[in-house]
Amino acid sequence: MSGVSIENAAEVLRPPADGLPYLRSDRAGELVLDGGAVALDGDRIAGLDADATATLRIDATGCSVLPGFVDCHTHLPFAGWRAEEYELKVTGVPYEEIARRGGGIASSARAFGAASDEEVLAQARGLSADMLRTGTTTFEGKTGYGLSVFAERRAARLGRDLGLEVVQSTTLTGLFAHAVPDGYTADGWMDEAEALARSADVDALDIYVESVAFANEHLERLGAVARERGLPLRAHVEQFAENRSVPVALAAGARSVDHLACLHPDDLGPLAASETAAVLLPGAEFLGAERVAPARDLADAGAICVLGTDLNPGTSPVASLPVIVGLAVRRYGWTAREALLACTLNAAHVLGMAGEAGSLERGKRADVIVLDAPVAQVPYRFGRNPVCAVLVAGRPVWVRPDSAWRLEGAA
Ligand code: NIG
Ligand code: FE
Repeated sequence: MSGVSIENAAEVLRPPADGLPYLRSDRAGELVLDGGAVALDGDRIAGLDADATATLRIDATGCSVLPGFVDCHTHLPFAGWRAEEYELKVTGVPYEEIARRGGGIASSARAFGAASDEEVLAQARGLSADMLRTGTTTFEGKTGYGLSVFAERRAARLGRDLGLEVVQSTTLTGLFAHAVPDGYTADGWMDEAEALARSADVDALDIYVESVAFANEHLERLGAVARERGLPLRAHVEQFAENRSVPVALAAGARSVDHLACLHPDDLGPLAASETAAVLLPGAEFLGAERVAPARDLADAGAICVLGTDLNPGTSPVASLPVIVGLAVRRYGWTAREALLACTLNAAHVLGMAGEAGSLERGKRADVIVLDAPVAQVPYRFGRNPVCAVLVAGRPVWVRPDSAWRLEGAA
């Protein structure tokens, strides 16, 4: 057999049973974390035994071996940053006020319009490389910084172009209802957003429900388009205010509800009991707002809890899932296992990719990361990148420069 054998690991993370599409977070403690090996055959995971005949044998003594991280919520591609808003925000100027002063999503839309295709792609490529070095082997991107029909179509095209260029597996979500462009009412833009949602080449649909953006009735309308097209529906809800969007999203059969910092207590039980995933974005909470999602309660109630970076220029300029895991453990009171489940198998489920990604199971794509320490150190040594090797589809694609391993083909 020609393949890779990663051996002698202190910890290998895997689900309690093969073939699970997701694991409810009250069962995260059942994730198996023991020493061992992972064998890869071509682009597939062959099994969890060392393979003495492998052409490349990696000695992972003292290391942990995990499935590549899955970031199911980013806003790539976008143009530029908004660091000046961060200072306003931390000194007390609210998000809505920043938006009224011409900042916020509208300012990123201006930057997106002014940047060339190559400039947008260059920034997104750089961020994808940052994500790879911190272990992300699958990620989602969204449109949403276009704010015109023409520019949203361009965002979708650039999102697909990015997917063709990067080594990671990617999906693209149409967030055509992200902000209300100048000259439109929310209803008026929703007509355009619906037309885009009906025709664009995307893998899922998303909407931002908030007083400064769209309302629950628009979420219902997008749900109808999603059903018509057979696309998963996702929604940014309860980020800055309690809008009671969760029952609407559940009725629409949403694949996920994202943010949830202002989740109404009465909506927690129905969400946890549903098939709709709770995507929590602690980067946006920590850097962008005061409220924290009731993540401990969601996990205890058996929700399908998921973590993402929300990588975007406004609320979460964070590309690293290890950093997000650190925030989640500290601020949610989660265990490392709960956080790791949320950015592997459960995140793959949100992207409809759990058959391929998200866990170390025979037959799945061989996306594997090696960390230089046991997993408990990921949240504990906050801000440090624990990833020392990344393999995508069985190929070493990144090795930390100080590593003793010399893996052919790795950057
Ligand atoms: O997920 N809330 C809407 N969208 C982004 C932020 C957009 C921005 O401020 O650029 C989010 O937080
Ligand atoms: Fe977002």
